[in-house]
Amino acid sequence: MNVLFESPRLLFRELIAKDIPLLFEMDSNREVHRYLGNFPLQTPEEAEAVILMIQKQYNENGIGRWALIEKQSGEFLGWAGLKLVKEEINGHNNFYDLGFRLMPNYWGCGYATEAATSLVKYASEILKLKNLYAFVDVENKASIRVLEKSGLKNEGRFLYEHQAHFWFHLSM
Ligand SMILES: CC(C)(COP(=O)(O)OP(=O)(O)OC[C@H]1O[C@@H](n2cnc3c(N)ncnc32)[C@H](O)[C@@H]1OP(=O)(O)O)[C@@H](O)C(=O)NCCC(=O)NCCS
Repeated sequence: MNVLFESPRLLFRELIAKDIPLLFEMDSNREVHRYLGNFPLQTPEEAEAVILMIQKQYNENGIGRWALIEKQSGEFLGWAGLKLVKEEINGHNNFYDLGFRLMPNYWGCGYATEAATSLVKYASEILKLKNLYAFVDVENKASIRVLEKSGLKNEGRFLYEHQAHFWFHLSM
């Protein structure tokens, strides 16, 4: 395994074709997509397309969402990572966005918080970023909590794809 980064309980590596079945399992789950626009994936081919899109980001931007692996078991938990967003969102473009998405059977174990806090450190110490952003559906309490615990500040509401979202920012 090509480990890029680690935290106490997690390994981070690039997403690869082998992840298609588990990525599909996660992203076809309605609960996972409840605050993500409610469009769960329908076919494994769509999961393959997601991985190809993320691999393109690795190549073009040198960064993208990474697979999260539980050290103890070697299990795929989902993904977390930094994404260079080029399009305009809430008046910003070409910004680094912090994101995370886990298999429901691993929710509530503190893994998203561990991944997010480690990625904030990576963004600051390795990438030397000055700003990090995230945006989240105003109803997505777990994600809001993870962002708060990772040090990002809620800078208020905006409308994203017809849905109220909070805009989070960390100045580093
Ligand atoms: C968001 C997500 C990654 C959180 O994962 P997680 O493993 O449960 O996160 P953690 O265990 O690290 O922390 C969750 C925190 O939210 C809190 N929380 C969870 N559900 C909550 C709710 N309904 N109301 C209030 N707080 C809640 C937890 O108590 C915990 O806070 P605490 O440690 O202070 O008690 C997970 O729910 C997920 O994958 N959701 C689907 C994808 C998604 O929405 N991604 C984020 C898009 S912005």
